[in-house]
Amino acid sequence: MTHSISVGIDALAFAGPAAYVDLSDLAKARGVDPAKFTKGLGQHRMAIASPCEDTVTMAVESGAQAVRAFGIDPDEIGTLIVGTETGVDHSKPVAVYVHDLLGLNERCRTFETKHACYGAMAGLTASMDWIASGRARGRKALVIASDIASYGLGTPGEPTQGAGAVAMVVSEKPRLLRIQPRTIGDYTRQVMDFWRPLYSKYALADGHYSIQCYLDALRGARLDAVGERHDLLAGLSACLYHVPFVKMAFKAHQRELEMELGHALNKAEASTWQQLVESYERRCAPWLTLNADIGNIYTGSLFLSLIDLLRQAGADMAGEDISLFSYGSGCGATYCLGRIVEGAGDWRAALDPGEELAKRRRLGIAEYESLVRAGEQADRCETLDPFDYGLAGGLYYTGTRNDRRHYERG
Ligand SMILES: CC(C)(COP(=O)(O)OP(=O)(O)OC[C@H]1O[C@@H](n2cnc3c(N)ncnc32)[C@H](O)[C@@H]1OP(=O)(O)O)[C@@H](O)C(=O)NCCC(=O)NCCS
Repeated sequence: MTHSISVGIDALAFAGPAAYVDLSDLAKARGVDPAKFTKGLGQHRMAIASPCEDTVTMAVESGAQAVRAFGIDPDEIGTLIVGTETGVDHSKPVAVYVHDLLGLNERCRTFETKHACYGAMAGLTASMDWIASGRARGRKALVIASDIASYGLGTPGEPTQGAGAVAMVVSEKPRLLRIQPRTIGDYTRQVMDFWRPLYSKYALADGHYSIQCYLDALRGARLDAVGERHDLLAGLSACLYHVPFVKMAFKAHQRELEMELGHALNKAEASTWQQLVESYERRCAPWLTLNADIGNIYTGSLFLSLIDLLRQAGADMAGEDISLFSYGSGCGATYCLGRIVEGAGDWRAALDPGEELAKRRRLGIAEYESLVRAGEQADRCETLDPFDYGLAGGLYYTGTRNDRRHYERG
């Protein structure tokens, strides 16, 4: 792989809610075998946002962390894109709140992208194009994925919820990951696998169909990116995927290997199945620990996996190639190849959210359900007190007065 144009990810940071539900508690409450959630889906916890934590607050916290921890001057940011499918207004973009709350320059172009879980990849590739075209004039782009995944109480999607934001700074001298524009492949098809009508706070999903659509999109985007390659995986140190739930990454990796082998795999063929398991254990499984601990964060889930990889192996994998696959229901997808930059390992402490995650509070199921119900009313609440939700020391949504959302540090 040649890297003629050196554009890519220069900084990365995660921010998420202060509380979580342990999926063994949820399984007990729903009368389900916990192994279905932990082994069948591969999930252990899901981050739960209180009414005071929304797409804006998480986006701001992740953006502030990325800029601060990587020593970036906010005035260097010339484009801000927030990818989200859980915006806070039908018209006003989350990005413009974020622009204000991060104190970015007035000359910074700002907008929101929506395409289910694909919005952040759309933002990443658009900002790479912005840089490659010369229009950036040396400036950087800040791309933030921020979402709250909500399927509703007692639904099949409930154990695949989560919440969080990943901020990435995109530049022509990236310190973490270089992406080769010529290896970016795309795929689009109109399908009804997952959507959220204007009247609903909760996503609607044809879950099993969405898995098929995801796998079809992976095939299509990979073909567009690299063609009929039968030897690609051998040259990759890691394969990162959109992770609505961890088991999906296994299904995706299986589809990639099937493309390379030219036939479907099943467990009955012990030796090829073993090849799949070994490849998955080496190239995918180690980088799914944050996804299992946080849940589905929609647009950010692929990049959460990238954070996990860099915090564990950024130093050891310097100079090595990886693949990234982003899927957004509806559907749109991108497959691309990247190379870990020499020195990426030096940024481990800056991008590792481990300490913050360790401070989270475990919710009982009754408290979780009452937070979900309170969340249904939050957009119309005049006054919300973060203290009532055990929150302090961050940026919070404090209610909508005179039809205007308010954000305060508390
Ligand atoms: C993913 C989703 C469809 C699963 O819903 P479900 O019908 O309740 O779950 P399933 O019956 O398919 O079980 C899920 C997995 O757990 C396994 N499982 C079930 N019970 C189990 C148990 N007791 N122990 C271990 N594994 C178990 C199933 O075999 C299945 O694994 P497989 O897919 O490898 O066959 C659902 O959570 C959903 O709709 N999620 C939202 C949409 C989404 O995430 N789509 C992904 C693409 S974007």
